[in-house]
Amino acid sequence: MNLAEHLKKKSTEEKITELIMLFSEQASVIRDEFVTSRGAADTKNVYGETQMALDKKADEILIDALKKSGLVRWIATEEQPDIIEVEGAKNQFGITIDPLDGSSLIDVNLAVGTIVGIYPGHVLEPGNTMPGALYILYGPLTTLTYTTGNGVHEFYLDKDGVFKLMEEDLTIPDGKLYAPGALRRDYMPYHKKFIEQLESEGYKLRFSGSFVADVHQILHKGGLFTYPAFKGKETGKLRHLFEGTPMGKMVFEAGGAVSNGKGNLLDVKPASVDERTPIYIGGKKEIALIESYVKR
Ligand code: F6P
Ligand code: MN
Repeated sequence: MNLAEHLKKKSTEEKITELIMLFSEQASVIRDEFVTSRGAADTKNVYGETQMALDKKADEILIDALKKSGLVRWIATEEQPDIIEVEGAKNQFGITIDPLDGSSLIDVNLAVGTIVGIYPGHVLEPGNTMPGALYILYGPLTTLTYTTGNGVHEFYLDKDGVFKLMEEDLTIPDGKLYAPGALRRDYMPYHKKFIEQLESEGYKLRFSGSFVADVHQILHKGGLFTYPAFKGKETGKLRHLFEGTPMGKMVFEAGGAVSNGKGNLLDVKPASVDERTPIYIGGKKEIALIESYVKR
């Protein structure tokens, strides 16, 4: 079964179907750029991170496609300082995009991805209002994983450029992997205790430097990814809107949870488009454990 057939089978609303199909069609366009747009771009994004040529290219490709389609009113991307409003759009959707997450790994040919959040209107709303989210992972295979609140489903791009069903109704299993961001010497005391407990229980380390790839692995194998608040960056490193909520929605819909340490990240309304957040994402058990350490 291909993606279009699957969306139909799940009785997905027409407007959402069009949107998911639009992103799926850009996957091979972005993938083709891996060969042509190599190297750094000599510019920095609003977070002070060096942009790779491919970050900018992927951003351009997605913004252009969305503008042309008229399918969404608001576009917020990690590579743009301001939210773009599309004039004359036929729907009211707001979209958040991390065009190429993990892009510091491009030069060493490790997995990177595109993360998308879908909002019914403007994007400065809690993640729990999202009707859907998806991510595309460019690994040995190019995969697309989506949810519209009716299960989490994964597809791979076949040789004819069509996304074919790989796994339906993904659920996060119990597992003992942990992917801990930040330097150990900068850990907050509660975080240090939490990580030490996971280690004493035999959790194995998996951290690639690509959030989307690391969370993808946790979604399939269980455990937890965290990029916490740490000394010097009390609000954390990762972006609430571009990384936290869309991947949080995916994991939540697969039976897991996402937290900022204090509570469900999906319940938090961000104050600005570039807001950062501490993040814990993975199994319910691990999320309950960190929240109990934060409370103590
Ligand atoms: O987008 C930010 C990001 O590249 C994530 O994909 C990744 O998890 C994180 O930063 C890695 O950060 P660091 O280099 O500090 O480990
Ligand atoms: Mn990112």
